[in-house]
Amino acid sequence: MKLHIAVLSGDGIGPEVTSEAIKVLKAIAVEFDHSFKFTEALVGASAIDKTGNPLPNETLDVCKSSDAVLFGAIGDPKYDNDPSAKVRPEQGLLKLRKELGLFANIRPVKAYDTLLEKSPLKEEIIKGTDISIYRELTGGIYFGEKKLNEEGTVASDLCVYSKAEIERIAHLAFKAAQSRRKKVTLVDKANVLESSRLWRKVVTELATEYPDITLDFLFVDNAAMQLILNPKQFDVILTENMFGDIISDEASVIGGSIGLLASASVGGEIGLFEPIHGSFPEGTGKGIANPIASILSAAMLLEHFGLTKEAASIHKAVEKSLELDISTPDLNRNGNPITTQKLGDFIEDYILNPEDSNMNFTNIHLGQSTII
Ligand code: IPM
Ligand code: MN
Repeated sequence: MKLHIAVLSGDGIGPEVTSEAIKVLKAIAVEFDHSFKFTEALVGASAIDKTGNPLPNETLDVCKSSDAVLFGAIGDPKYDNDPSAKVRPEQGLLKLRKELGLFANIRPVKAYDTLLEKSPLKEEIIKGTDISIYRELTGGIYFGEKKLNEEGTVASDLCVYSKAEIERIAHLAFKAAQSRRKKVTLVDKANVLESSRLWRKVVTELATEYPDITLDFLFVDNAAMQLILNPKQFDVILTENMFGDIISDEASVIGGSIGLLASASVGGEIGLFEPIHGSFPEGTGKGIANPIASILSAAMLLEHFGLTKEAASIHKAVEKSLELDISTPDLNRNGNPITTQKLGDFIEDYILNPEDSNMNFTNIHLGQSTII
């Protein structure tokens, strides 16, 4: 398959983790005989620094003429600490989601057996967790009218949803549940918010088209608690934009590190694939960022194009690294963490030579073998 991939690596650790994902995609291209072409473009704080715009037109053009977008991370503390900043890195990502019509953000959350001890939650609670979060991505409070009065003393953000916006993501969530454990949980705040009451009504009506799926409801406050009390009760979680943003960060605790959580944003012609973590400015340039979330986002990109064997090969290599504890500091258990780049090297090499088995296995795949 020929794929043209726009690479928007962004800020902070974004470029470091994204280069590892590209390395892995190149290995997949070699191993499975595909041709992937990568075109880089600016986004976020680095784009503001160079052009004054967090999503320059040129970047949008590159994305629109590609098959998919591989996204890194955006954000810079100099904007976080300045509430008066008019131009912000995040605007680049929000505009891109809107422009590409990416209304569904899919965030898989899995407890890897080898990492159970890394989570602050008890093993018996998280073992076996396998959730797919469907977060609405182009509506709600993120995109409603924003107001600030002239004195700067009163502000508001409007949360608006239409039936059509709810239906289109709900269909995707129900369909996903059909090939999983056949349960959808709608997370909302229908006891307080009118917009949530619309979600309940629309999703309940739509559920009649999916008689094989069990639909249940949770208020978001309770869902936040249930997620860490008993995460195994969830299969597909369907929710609006901001609730999904919050509970997916919370859910990352189950996997042991936010550095593992990948995501796919779909809905339009061109999908966007990005780790859920931020730009981790404190970690920038230190080689300590975990590239797995970015690498697994690349696997989601391949799955999106039906390249399931290829995606499985990435998953296998990632799981091998976790099993052997070839890991960055966030996950390391053996006291010898490796760098972002070395972890990418291992995964790349495992994809190219999966059959290697040797006493020196770890070193071979890290390119440190003494055997020539
Ligand atoms: C995410 C991020 C973004 C969001 C920010 C960077 C705008 O936190 O993708 O979850 O809130 O959607
Ligand atoms: Mn977020």
